[in-house]
Amino acid sequence: MTAHYEVRGDVAVITLDNPPVNGLGYATRAALAAGVNRAEDDPAIRAIVVTGAGKAFSGGADIKEFGSPKATSEPNLLSLIAQLEACSKPTVAAVHTVCMGGGLELALGCHYRVAAPGAAVALPEVKIGLVPGAGGTQRLPRVIGVEPALNMIVSGDPVKSELLAQIPGQKLFQKIVEGDLLDGAVAFAREVADVRPLPRVRDLPARHPEADGYFQFARNTVKAVAKNFPAPAKCVDCVEQAVKSKFEAGMTFELSTFMSLMFTPESRALRHAFFAERATSKIADVPEDTPKRAINQVAVIGAGTMGGGISMNFLNAGIPVVILEMKQEALDRGIATIRKNYEAQVKKGKLKPEKYEERMALLTSTLSYAEIGGADLVIEAVFEDLDVKKVVFEQLDAVMKPGAILASNTSTLDVNRIASFTKRPQDVVGLHFFSPANVMKLLEVVRGAATAKDVMATVMALGKKIRKTCVVSGVCDGFIGNRMIEQYSRQAGFLLEEGCTPAQVDRAAEKFGFAMGPFRMGDLAGNDIGWYIRKRRYQEKPDLRYSRTADLLCELGRFGQKTGAGWYDYQPGQRNAIPSKLVEDMIAKHRADLGITPRKISDEEIVQRLVYSLVNEGAKILEEGIASKASDIDMVYLTGYGFPLHRGGPMCYADTQGLFNVVQAMRRFAKNPLDDAEFWQPAPLLAKLAAEGKSFS
Ligand code: NAI
Repeated sequence: MTAHYEVRGDVAVITLDNPPVNGLGYATRAALAAGVNRAEDDPAIRAIVVTGAGKAFSGGADIKEFGSPKATSEPNLLSLIAQLEACSKPTVAAVHTVCMGGGLELALGCHYRVAAPGAAVALPEVKIGLVPGAGGTQRLPRVIGVEPALNMIVSGDPVKSELLAQIPGQKLFQKIVEGDLLDGAVAFAREVADVRPLPRVRDLPARHPEADGYFQFARNTVKAVAKNFPAPAKCVDCVEQAVKSKFEAGMTFELSTFMSLMFTPESRALRHAFFAERATSKIADVPEDTPKRAINQVAVIGAGTMGGGISMNFLNAGIPVVILEMKQEALDRGIATIRKNYEAQVKKGKLKPEKYEERMALLTSTLSYAEIGGADLVIEAVFEDLDVKKVVFEQLDAVMKPGAILASNTSTLDVNRIASFTKRPQDVVGLHFFSPANVMKLLEVVRGAATAKDVMATVMALGKKIRKTCVVSGVCDGFIGNRMIEQYSRQAGFLLEEGCTPAQVDRAAEKFGFAMGPFRMGDLAGNDIGWYIRKRRYQEKPDLRYSRTADLLCELGRFGQKTGAGWYDYQPGQRNAIPSKLVEDMIAKHRADLGITPRKISDEEIVQRLVYSLVNEGAKILEEGIASKASDIDMVYLTGYGFPLHRGGPMCYADTQGLFNVVQAMRRFAKNPLDDAEFWQPAPLLAKLAAEGKSFS
């Protein structure tokens, strides 16, 4: 059963019951339709209340059904709404907690709606690249007005029920029920039981006094922000139809728009990201009900760039933090930076002054390990040097209470080695934050060979609490994200050697949708980081070829924005990247020294080499079990590396292109004598999937 039927005197109450959010999948729709018929057939019933069990009225359509026959099996959502609207007895939606997408469309098909205060009401379809497809764009403007409705539909953002009820003249909610919602809804249903004709939203007008001007304005505004996504502009088209066409014609227009968007790569990518995000928290051998350790106090070792940002995450979540440093000056500097960051937020109006005080009050500092032993979790963020980490972890092992979780923020070092410095490797885990750690969504959770399951469950839950997207990675050099980016950077270097300028490569990458091309990114992060890693690689893997242009750049002291010059020139205090004649000459000379005749390289080749290098390394990571699913790799790139959302992440993008085509391109790249033929051998998993006509998903 996915809906319950209950009789309260002369009112039937049908309760959707499909946890977690009463999604309107086939079985739920069928149960609701059956309930409505039963109430219609029962002469003792005078009105019908529809509500939802648990934590939602309804979160909307079941997205997993999209594209499958189940989505259209009768009663489909449109038929169900039509049934409620045509019902001969009044139907009342009792809305609470969450009323979104198809859930709101269902409520709009009812004759009346009452709501509990605080319900989040939204048409969020645009967030998965669609327009509402069951009348949302046609009915919502009729009950709250064209402008408020368009704002909700284009943004997809939720609005609280009591705020909607305050819109002058609104007909969305006939009543906001304080106290027991169901009692209120049943009482309301009795009040209106004999009122005829039954009010239908479709019969209301959708008017705007200056429709043409308004829609033109809306189109311009949406165009400026929607960039790579077609759905927001289509939302405007649909709402315009609500104003300018008859109801039925508007419904037809909405449905055909919905169907055409469903098959766009952008919508596919957004739906992929939607599921991928939810899937990151699932670890095959760590059940969701694994007991978690309590984390009420966090210690952070090192108050540098990362330590400060990491601390802010916990302070923001109301969890006390103690920071430890070696010297008072370093401690003072670190705390002053945290203060400065919060002050900047207060100045911008993003943080209330009292919140700032509250957060700072949760922060303490120390120079002594003796004072941190009681923390439930300690995160080490000291210099990236195994010997330094060894000293730190030995001390932690000595002072931390039993059961404390010992985490390292290392970006490259072996978490198993780090765990071996302690007598409790089961309590050791990698928590790889990204810089700036208080801003970036991604948190790679590095699972060591011995890391206990309850430690994994605890840090995954904690990561969610501090609003991170947590992706589990196995232990390898660079984990998921940085291991892949190294191949991407190598390709960027080869492209320079073969004839590109940094600006040309960046332009192509940014046109594809990357937030920043590889060279602008290098200048922002600091080119010295890659230099440091390459120097290590030259020792470890002398046969692996890198373009030396980046080394030459660093030898000039051009580390990027922090030194005022990198791949680009910068005006003092500014971040605008200005193409540098000096750098271009440096690259040209290097080319000449290598005897390379530059060639013209297309944007298509640039993008394919950059993105497919990620894909090939990603396939290896998947095959080795470093990542447990391709969608995890996509989430790393979407949340940590500025990969364009409308492409769904590198693995999703490869699927969209077709793995056969990806492999063919790799074969071509392998024939380029200036590239790395060995790297371009398709990873066995990729070759296998391509040969079988399959995809990563
Ligand atoms: P940083 O140099 O800014 O800060 C390190 C801090 O640790 C310094 O304040 C130093 O005084 C302190 N420290 C050093 N040894 C210590 C010890 N024995 N006890 C207590 N404090 C000690 O370095 P950053 O950038 O914050 O990096 C820290 C860690 O985070 C490294 O493992 C790094 O690989 C990792 N990481 C860095 C990222 C970045 O973008 N900077 C990104 C992700 C991870």
